[in-house]
Amino acid sequence: MKTVSEIRQSFLEFFQSKGHTIVESSSLVPENDPTLLFTNAGMNQFKDVFLGQDKRAYTRATTSQRCVRAGGKHNDLENVGYTARHHTFFEMLGNFSFGDYFKQDAIHFAWEFLTSPQWLSLPKERLWVTVYETDDEAYDIWHNEVGVPAERIIRIGDNKNAPYASDNFWQMGDTGPCGPCTEIFYDHGDHIWGGPPGSAEEDGDRYIEIWNVVFMQFNRQADGTMEKLPKPSVDTGMGLERISAVLQHVNSNYEIDIFQTLIKETATILGVSDLDNKSLRVIADHIRSCAYLIADGVVPSNEGRGYVLRRIIRRAVRHGNILGAKAAFFYQLVPTLAKAMGHAGEILTAKQAFIQKTLKAEEDQFARTLERGLALLEDALTKVDNKQLSGEVAFKLYDTYGFPLDLTADVCRERDITIDEAGFEREMTAQRERAKASSNFGTDYNNVIKVDGVTEFKGYEHTETDATVVGLFSNGKAVERIQSGESAVVILDKTAFYGESGGQVGDTGVICAELAQFAVQDTQKYGQVFGHIGQLTSGTLSVGDKVFAQIDAERRHAITLNHSATHLLHAALREVLGDHVAQKGSLVSENVLRFDFSQPEAIAKSDLEEIERIINCKIRENAQVATEIMDLDAAKAKGAMALFGEKYGDRVRVVGMTKFSIELCGGTHVKQTGEIGLFKFISEGAVAAGVRRVEAVTGENAIALLHQQQQVLQQSAELLKTDSASLVEKIQQLQDKSKKVEKELQQLKEKLAAQAGGELAKNAKQINGVNVVVEALENVEAKNLKAMVDDLKNQLGSAIIVFASTADNKVNLIVGVTSDLTNKIKAGELVNLLAQEVGGKGGGRPDMAMAGGSQPENVEKALSAGLAWLKANL
Ligand code: SER
Repeated sequence: MKTVSEIRQSFLEFFQSKGHTIVESSSLVPENDPTLLFTNAGMNQFKDVFLGQDKRAYTRATTSQRCVRAGGKHNDLENVGYTARHHTFFEMLGNFSFGDYFKQDAIHFAWEFLTSPQWLSLPKERLWVTVYETDDEAYDIWHNEVGVPAERIIRIGDNKNAPYASDNFWQMGDTGPCGPCTEIFYDHGDHIWGGPPGSAEEDGDRYIEIWNVVFMQFNRQADGTMEKLPKPSVDTGMGLERISAVLQHVNSNYEIDIFQTLIKETATILGVSDLDNKSLRVIADHIRSCAYLIADGVVPSNEGRGYVLRRIIRRAVRHGNILGAKAAFFYQLVPTLAKAMGHAGEILTAKQAFIQKTLKAEEDQFARTLERGLALLEDALTKVDNKQLSGEVAFKLYDTYGFPLDLTADVCRERDITIDEAGFEREMTAQRERAKASSNFGTDYNNVIKVDGVTEFKGYEHTETDATVVGLFSNGKAVERIQSGESAVVILDKTAFYGESGGQVGDTGVICAELAQFAVQDTQKYGQVFGHIGQLTSGTLSVGDKVFAQIDAERRHAITLNHSATHLLHAALREVLGDHVAQKGSLVSENVLRFDFSQPEAIAKSDLEEIERIINCKIRENAQVATEIMDLDAAKAKGAMALFGEKYGDRVRVVGMTKFSIELCGGTHVKQTGEIGLFKFISEGAVAAGVRRVEAVTGENAIALLHQQQQVLQQSAELLKTDSASLVEKIQQLQDKSKKVEKELQQLKEKLAAQAGGELAKNAKQINGVNVVVEALENVEAKNLKAMVDDLKNQLGSAIIVFASTADNKVNLIVGVTSDLTNKIKAGELVNLLAQEVGGKGGGRPDMAMAGGSQPENVEKALSAGLAWLKANL
């Protein structure tokens, strides 16, 4: 029996023998394609080749592509665990023709691979095919050339309520390459329920689609129109897991070797014996998507790709909880997975430590709220009306306990309960509104400013320019003229002002006209134009005016130092911590640089020192900083670091500081690294699970920081009458001394309290022959109260003692009962009774109990109630 890894290999070899180039799987994070959340089909990495915008050295390719279908257009997350063949992660085997062969070869190749005794040798009579309703050409090839009988060829039309919306018309997303397809189905046999495609029973598990052969012909536009592709092409996709199930003679994908290995490993880790348990299948599925997503640079977070990853991990952790997991378990599956995946697992082995750390951190974090959230949910589920959980509860679980909505839905689905999703959305919107109301956003000009043309940016070489006003915006709309005192956005035809981007803040400065001055407080980009945001401080300014615009050069210089230092920082972080460091966010301002990056744990102090040391070395090397405009491909070949998910044009700007740091960047930079002067970290911390933030200062700011720190040291040393070298020792001595003094003071207080307690013995009353001391005291601490009670017990031999001490609007209550009396009076019972009177509660042993309360004004009442109770019970 062929293993999954062997089947993958056979496929690639077959197509290699037919002149195809074997291409490696691309990342799950699609490069340069913001329309796509995750890679969800083999053709994604060839999208631009189909569209004629990119060329490769080959016209035939074959791949085994890792895919994730969760969270995006093709979303299978919620079905995992409920069906035999839905997965969040799967591998798609594919062969591609870029304007090379078309329908005929594509169909013959597929048939040969599936049925030839040399390859998969599947029985022909078990194979059925579908074609797009009007695709006579494909029908004829199947029927006349391949010899598939007419009763096993089914035409499928637009069965999804729109033109081209059909099971036999494949499209990547709302836009992009698409075309009619022909699909091949395998009949698993009449012992399984289900009917052929197009029949009423098609959803059963008997006839399973194994291969989709798409004849790529169109580029779908956002408005729905179909533009013809330059050359008809082919894109095929066969689910590796499905074809493996066929070849391994099992109906469910979860029975193929890879899943069985993962299921057994999970069962061993969790001590589960029932290998058919649904939760084991969910976990076995989820570890694949999670491990590969992390390997491809995604880390759990609260938005975008990171949130989908978080949702999948948390769902897996919840299923572990069902199976009785007591501690983090999910991350332990990574080595087994990496091994089971064969060649495709090599990337996991290479990044194993990072993947495991990231998973474990997320598991540990969620474990803290999971139990409490589940308890709340269980309680709510017992009270649901109409089999629907309220949106408020679902939102509370989301907001307070970190339960993604689909996790809550998963729990509900097991009880046949749905969620009021509209209610959930209402709560979510209300929360967003609250957040918006509390933040002080100004007018959002993004949808208002639409100026034809481009602002030419002169700011790499210049700090000032002559320019013409080409647009003015005030109070959220375009205007012809602004008056003194008015706030506005000024658009110029050219500018030296840098518009905020790539983390670098916008420039400030001044725009002068003959009779007017405009103070620029910020600069932003609106499409192709730069908006200078600020206030007209004198005169009037009109569209068409000639102006002279000048940035605050000193501020820009400080920003520039920070930007160049950020590049050195990025490179040094990777050198010291590893290649997993990827930029997640950055802020470059005149005062500070801030850098967020993927990193599962806090950075050790020694590593921070090393990073700082390397950066300062690079600064002292005073290397030349080279900026070059080149093709994206050339930049990549040079090893330039690009950001995940960022869209770059064909021509990019590359900033290099020797070989140490090469990045794609549009920001402003120093000419020589020596200008940065000095780099000092000021903080290191977490921003989200798996993401750390460092902040640092450079140049003048770094020097100022050192001065400030030195001053603190000097002042402290003076105060302590020593020098800065002996400061630590001196502080240590003082701390020891202060601890000693505190201890002595406490002993004294106890002694005094005991003495005071001794005096109180005189006040003892007799109730039915028993000594009773009931006193209201002031400012006696709890532990001293205890000492007083013990002392009184000793003095009186047999007694009941009740104290209420008030301090800072609080009441401390204590009741002591000597052991000969505890059969009649329980201290815990009495103290509770008193506590209720002063708005508190408490308890303790029968011979000694304490309580606290918040209503000192009721102390007298409480003590009288206590006395009355004693009289009644003694
Ligand atoms: N792109 C098609 C699919 O995903 C065939 O590869 O089904």
